[in-house]
Amino acid sequence: MAVRIVKKIANLLIFNNLTHSSFGRYVRGKPANLVRWEEQMSRSATTVRKFTEDQSDQFKISTLLNSAEALYEKSLNPRLKNEQCAACRKEAKDIADILANIKETRPLALNLLARIAIDEGFYDQANSHLVYALKEAPEDPSLLYSQGHVFLARQEYEEAEKLFARAFRINPSLTRAASSLAYTKTRQGKFVEAFQDYRELIKSHPDDPHIRTKLFECTAKITANHYDEELADDILSLYLLEGIDYTALGNITASLLIHKYDIPSLLQHGLPLGIVDTVCQDKLLCEALSKIIFCQPDLEKFITQIRKQLLLESLVQSDLKQLHVNLAVALSLYASNMEYSLYIDSQEYNLLSALEDLINAVISATGWKPSDLAGATLLYGMYLPMDELSCATELAKFSVNRWPVWARKTINHALLEIIQEKQNCDKIPSIGQISDATSQKVQAQYEQNPYPRWLHLSYNTPTNYGRAMEQEFPDFRAPSFFNTGDINVLIAGCGTGQHAIKVAKYFRNVNVTAIDLSRRSLVYASKMAEKYHVKNIEFIQADILNLDQLKQQFHIIESSGVLHHMADPMAGLAALKERLVPGGLMKLALYSRAARQIILKSRELIQKNKLTGSAQHIRLFRQAILHNNSSTAFSGMLSSSDFYNMSGCRDLVFHEHETQFDLLQIDEMLTRFNLNFIGLLVQPLQRLEFIEFIGSDQQRGTLAEWAEFEQQHPQSFGGMYQFYCQKPRQAPTV
Ligand SMILES: C[S@@+](CC[C@H](N)C(=O)[O-])C[C@H]1O[C@@H](n2cnc3c(N)ncnc32)[C@H](O)[C@@H]1O
Repeated sequence: MAVRIVKKIANLLIFNNLTHSSFGRYVRGKPANLVRWEEQMSRSATTVRKFTEDQSDQFKISTLLNSAEALYEKSLNPRLKNEQCAACRKEAKDIADILANIKETRPLALNLLARIAIDEGFYDQANSHLVYALKEAPEDPSLLYSQGHVFLARQEYEEAEKLFARAFRINPSLTRAASSLAYTKTRQGKFVEAFQDYRELIKSHPDDPHIRTKLFECTAKITANHYDEELADDILSLYLLEGIDYTALGNITASLLIHKYDIPSLLQHGLPLGIVDTVCQDKLLCEALSKIIFCQPDLEKFITQIRKQLLLESLVQSDLKQLHVNLAVALSLYASNMEYSLYIDSQEYNLLSALEDLINAVISATGWKPSDLAGATLLYGMYLPMDELSCATELAKFSVNRWPVWARKTINHALLEIIQEKQNCDKIPSIGQISDATSQKVQAQYEQNPYPRWLHLSYNTPTNYGRAMEQEFPDFRAPSFFNTGDINVLIAGCGTGQHAIKVAKYFRNVNVTAIDLSRRSLVYASKMAEKYHVKNIEFIQADILNLDQLKQQFHIIESSGVLHHMADPMAGLAALKERLVPGGLMKLALYSRAARQIILKSRELIQKNKLTGSAQHIRLFRQAILHNNSSTAFSGMLSSSDFYNMSGCRDLVFHEHETQFDLLQIDEMLTRFNLNFIGLLVQPLQRLEFIEFIGSDQQRGTLAEWAEFEQQHPQSFGGMYQFYCQKPRQAPTV
């Protein structure tokens, strides 16, 4: 009977040239009438044999299989609406259900059914399909690959690794298997092995955005223990790729440079004369300086000293030498990326003041051109914001194209864009008045120092938010609204928008509303949204306390690092919960008291020394910490990336207002607001440690269990407690 149905559908498909969707509608009613295919097969074996002997029928069957595959591939198209995607998957599934009745197509059809089941979060079902299919085709690499994904989704990494490795051994051209194998290694913390795998893969697939992203992700986790020229060349080639978040290359680049120049010994004995002539030719150093911020104390000291030598040499010669231009450009971009947080000594301050006088004098003379001042402006920009020069408006009167080519990038990034950013603040729409005293203080901080001043966005294949949640928490079933219609997301306290833009770009069918107190942060966020062509996002200036004026309800609310900056975080949480639909999800990130002990000590030091959050005081504080790294009380701070730029450092230790939490408090808070805890977001290795600690395979754990775990491992939540909770689907009856 199944065969007859197949024949009939195939005929319809081929001869009546029906569209996929009308085809699907036809099929949909039939499979329900089919008996389980295993039973069916034994009954219709003779018919099937007869049927498959017929070449033209075989052709029809393979056409059907192709259609099912095509429908499935279509369902993965990030531009499809969730419901269209579900419809495509359903059609593909209906056809595959039928084809699983036919011996010749059974393994392929079962594989397709398994892939769909994996996408939908039904891992056991996927595995049964695959176990059955593998009985017939035990060496089929595609089946082994799919089964690897079942184990990967279940976070059973060793088994997944074996399956991907086997699939790749059988078919060395199955790049997906090699890539998934490398990914599984990263999940187990085998970063060096994974890095080597991805490094090979990128050579044969330089344009594959997925391989690139994953290579970058695991590069972020490794460092070099000696200088290796081939590796340095490979890393340099990664800086030259477009559309990448280069931040991930920081650690490995720093470690290569430290070994190349033996920086600890240079710092100990003093930098040799002429070192500027050497490092200005270092392509890796110059590329890195213009694209990332190093988070390595010795390298920062080295850069600071190189900068001083370059300034002194240029001033002695009254010129920026052609040989040094690249380095000056790189250092001026670096200073802008770090928001001018590198230490400046008094000799340098005096020289900068003389340099500013010189620039002013040239501007006062008639007939000056940008090329007269490009060198001096860049030298100044290696230290201090160009837009704060008293003659900044005069400099900005020239469009970027009037400046020498080599100076354009810096002039644009560090002068013109900053001036524009300040001017655009009035263009951001707002709701309500910011009247709460703490909100006003916090707003003032972020108007001065929008945080974080991020530079690049990494690539990600857009996915369904609900499915991503299910992958993170394998025993969680996402609400059904993820399969239908648009998903409204609120990012409360979006800062400069990196997180909001990622949500808008990485998830399907989401409409994002992103609010923040700080207009300058929002202007930065809008500029970056434009740069990354993200249109499904609206930025609004608002206090969380005024969210009732927004009227709209949201399926998801994310608020990362925000509530602990409010005078009354509970009032903030109440306002957020009001905006959440029943069954809606909330992702919060809050400071851990245990993990922030060192920060609290630093804040005491800051108060004792009467340091304010001014740029000069932040530079002083950073210098004190950098040069005290052997007295360990504060050295832990050196591992925070926030320490290495102005807005980050202010956010980290000079904040206008912060409170901290512990997990039991969060537990109580969720109970009080009738929000159900879903789970903490942690690194895979940390989850494995936790599972071992509680001695059960209950992956999510309770907040009380995590609190016990944190007591033993107080630095576990240095990057904040990040967790999901859910508003009950229905209000509880009283
Ligand atoms: C530490 S930053 C975090 C920014 C962003 N969520 C992120 O993870 O990059 C905190 C942000 O919360 C915003 N914020 C603090 N209190 C707020 C409030 N009451 N309403 C809206 N935004 C607030 C600040 O303006 C600031 O941009």
